[in-house]
Amino acid sequence: MIEVSTPGKLYIAGEYAVVEPGHPAIIVAVDQFITVTIEPAKKTGTIQSVQYSELPIRWTRRNGELVLDIRENPFHYILAAISLTEKYARENNIPLSFYDLKVTSELDSSNGRKYGLGSSGAVTVATVKALNAFYGLNLDQMSIFKIAALAHLEVQGNGSCGDIAASCYGGWIAFSTFDHAWVRKQRKQSDLTSLLNSAWPDLSIKPLAVPENLRLLIGWTGSPASTSDLVDQVHESKDEKQKLYEQFLSESKKCVTEMIRGFEIQDVDLIKQMIHRNRCLLNQLSSISGVTIETPALKKLCDLAETYGGTAKSSGAGGGDCGIVITDQKSGILPLMSAWEKAAITPLPLHVYYQERSAHESKG
Ligand code: PMV
Ligand code: MG
Repeated sequence: MIEVSTPGKLYIAGEYAVVEPGHPAIIVAVDQFITVTIEPAKKTGTIQSVQYSELPIRWTRRNGELVLDIRENPFHYILAAISLTEKYARENNIPLSFYDLKVTSELDSSNGRKYGLGSSGAVTVATVKALNAFYGLNLDQMSIFKIAALAHLEVQGNGSCGDIAASCYGGWIAFSTFDHAWVRKQRKQSDLTSLLNSAWPDLSIKPLAVPENLRLLIGWTGSPASTSDLVDQVHESKDEKQKLYEQFLSESKKCVTEMIRGFEIQDVDLIKQMIHRNRCLLNQLSSISGVTIETPALKKLCDLAETYGGTAKSSGAGGGDCGIVITDQKSGILPLMSAWEKAAITPLPLHVYYQERSAHESKG
């Protein structure tokens, strides 16, 4: 039996800007996992996942017609990951066979997703990795990222694939997405194997060394929102407010680049300053787009963290879910935890998850 576990993720900085190529984000992998197992089968295969066993299938209307929103349903990510990995196998003359694929998850609960730790990215990566092992494809880490990213894009369409990178590489990473238009064009023009072998413009995934005295705290505010809906909404305002949006993009790039420098020179103060700066920029993006990123509960989470010597911001698309705190002051941690609990914010005892990897930077 093949068994592969991949971690969930949390965004630290650079959200929304990171969906545009060349704009960095910092993301961490956390120790909550999705596990995919594959066992050989005969004549028919099965796919079974706890993720969608009780998940309602969301739908909306377009021109009056009922349309399923497949972006929230993990089943479609699994199917896209299978179809692309098997395409690669076929292109490389590896015979296909039958199997039973099973998904178990710590990232989802029976009433849908739990803490917004990115189960769709993790399941896509886990499926590609499990089939890589099952068929003996010998795909390297970057090729696994690329297949999972292509699968994810087919289903979600509007994401940066930063969650895929975090789930693939583990640890703390600096991530910039690839030129999506270029990749889509190549998908039509060339086979998958050549696309995996070519450099993807703008893509950069770089492990970050974390300063020893840096502490990451995570709080959960409940009321999860749909990331893909929020990204759509921000993009709807993009044309109308083009100048302000571009200003947000370039300021976010400056801020996260400076934060990455903070990691390189191991300067926690600089990292903290840039977390605060990024929080302000995301609040500006909220005013530009009319989309609530920092909810009142996330504001409370951040403000309390600042009272106890940390700096904080919403994590990911916001609108609920998690906030993150960076601190180097151990003494403030316990009082902050109890202040959070009084304010109905749940501290999450997660740790950054590292896996074996080559130490150097991966470019497209
Ligand atoms: O809500 P999350 O944790 O899935 O993060 C979304 C981050 C965005 O930048 C808003 C979208 C993306 O795909 O990068
Ligand atoms: Mg989210």
